[in-house]
Amino acid sequence: MNQDLQEQLADLAVTGGERINAAADLDELAAVEAETIGKRSLVSEARRSLGAVDEQERPALGRLINEVSEALRGKIVAKRLHLETEADAERLATEALDVTLPGRVPLRGSHHLITTALEEITDIFVSMGYDVAAGPEAETSWYNFTALNIGPDHPARAETDTIYLDYGRPGEVLLRTHTSPMQARYMQENPPPVYVVVPGRVFRQEDVDPTHSPVFHQLEGLAVADGITFGDLRGTLETFAKRYFGKERSVRFLPSYFPFTEPSAEMLVSCFACDGSGCRVCSNEGWIEMLGCGMVHPAVFEAVGYDPGAVTGFAFGLGVDRFAMVRHGLTDLRHLFGGDIRVLEQFR
Ligand code: PHE
Repeated sequence: MNQDLQEQLADLAVTGGERINAAADLDELAAVEAETIGKRSLVSEARRSLGAVDEQERPALGRLINEVSEALRGKIVAKRLHLETEADAERLATEALDVTLPGRVPLRGSHHLITTALEEITDIFVSMGYDVAAGPEAETSWYNFTALNIGPDHPARAETDTIYLDYGRPGEVLLRTHTSPMQARYMQENPPPVYVVVPGRVFRQEDVDPTHSPVFHQLEGLAVADGITFGDLRGTLETFAKRYFGKERSVRFLPSYFPFTEPSAEMLVSCFACDGSGCRVCSNEGWIEMLGCGMVHPAVFEAVGYDPGAVTGFAFGLGVDRFAMVRHGLTDLRHLFGGDIRVLEQFR
């Protein structure tokens, strides 16, 4: 019987030691501790039964029990220390703050493609001596239409084209449909000679599609002085076209109609992508429509209080969004207005 217990204790010293070594974490170690030297362990049971053991064998057995339990306890303490250190190291590693890591670079904002185009175009005219002016987006029908010789029955006034505001008399206040009303405002405020460009946002009743948007951008130009001719218009706009699209470009004028210019023209520029042979950029035309222009109509001078016998001038209006699209090969206007940000990010 005692022989048996001694063997069991010797066995426990070996297997217990192995289990303690194998414990993967503190929980497992606690379980091994309870089983090997805890209250219900063989060690504790043996200790409790010591009283019943033959007096002569008692001291030796007692010593053995103590040796085994102390050996196991020592191993447990060492293992616990080891596991705790390991857990600490692991926590330190995961919670570590590496002060040598580069910081997160905040997303840097940049100008929108349209803003950049507006600035580039404006700069070219400023370098030719033009002033820059801005006007209201909510405009009266007098400036938007009447002053510009656009009669009361002109189709452009229809609600199908123009966004009217619920303000003043019906049909009186609207969102400007072009930047041309600033021709009238500027001439009212400034005596001739006048050289001015007006970049700005304009609005039309339009469904959104690849080439249309109810909000878009124009740049208006106006030059008025004694003796300005269509030759000046041509020279100025050709210079501009070459500066913006490249000096190999040539321009072409086609007759057109605007109530506020006479004669009126559409200016085309030879395609910068194919040099006129026809490609995707110019829809195989070889030419790209650039702007509307013409000699200021005498009725406009009269409306603003200029003497049509004393001055002449030219005006032009161009679509900035279209310029940016053509120049950068974009085929869908919607990319410019809240489309996929990655499209715009290319032009930062
Ligand atoms: N305002 C015209 C338009 O929006 C463009 C234009 C401006 C034409 C000035 C001639 C002169 O289409």
